[in-house]
Amino acid sequence: DVKKELLYTGKAKNVYKTENDDEVLIEFRDDITALDGGKKDTLNKKGAYNALISSKFFKILEDEGILTQFIKLINENEMIAKSLDMIPLEVICRNIATGSLLRKYPFHKNQHLQPPVLQFDYKNDVYHDPMLNDSIIIALEIATEEQLQQIRQITLKINKVLSEFLYERGLILVDFKVEFGFDKDGNIVLGDEISPDTTRLWDSETHKNFDKDIFRKGEEGVVDAYEVVVNLVLNDEEKQ
Ligand code: C5P
Repeated sequence: DVKKELLYTGKAKNVYKTENDDEVLIEFRDDITALDGGKKDTLNKKGAYNALISSKFFKILEDEGILTQFIKLINENEMIAKSLDMIPLEVICRNIATGSLLRKYPFHKNQHLQPPVLQFDYKNDVYHDPMLNDSIIIALEIATEEQLQQIRQITLKINKVLSEFLYERGLILVDFKVEFGFDKDGNIVLGDEISPDTTRLWDSETHKNFDKDIFRKGEEGVVDAYEVVVNLVLNDEEKQ
């Protein structure tokens, strides 16, 4: 068992040290939360499905030249990943106006956003993840202007690559959240996960959700929806 000391525990994942300081083990748990931790449940298989989906997305992005944390899946819900010094930002990219954007700003429901809307939230539980702007990010020394520019470019490329991949499989990438970190050489690398917990995925015809909004709305069938996503994004070989 490569699992060792717990380095970090989040709402849905644990990160452990491994024998190799350059690598960590990320465990995708079955816990699901919403409303800033106010709504919680544990759903069998949720972690495994997210690990599969996130690994697939990271592989596709690597093939397109984006650096990611992903190394390999070693178990259905455990991944070996590069150690990163994480940047405490939630980088949100939106193609369609929904969710918190509609609660905070006068967009039309489902308004198409072209160019996509990028937003930086501070990962900070005490302050409830406030939205930041460039000057606050720079003043707090979270990132430099150049690093922010690079983060914007990478996020827009992730959006383009995954939107096309998903659209070919009948899903619209409505919006998503990504996180980045620095590797030991100082490169900005995509970390954390991209899964139905961190994206909005709509059926391109019916606009039905295949993501965590099902849970946020208190509806049944969230894990079944994640399983549908697994079956849409993985090829037959990867499903075995
Ligand atoms: O809630 P909101 O509309 O701002 O969410 C935008 C996108 O970011 C959604 O895809 C949501 O799943 C994701 N998100 C996330 N983690 C957060 C906040 C938002 O993955 N803490």
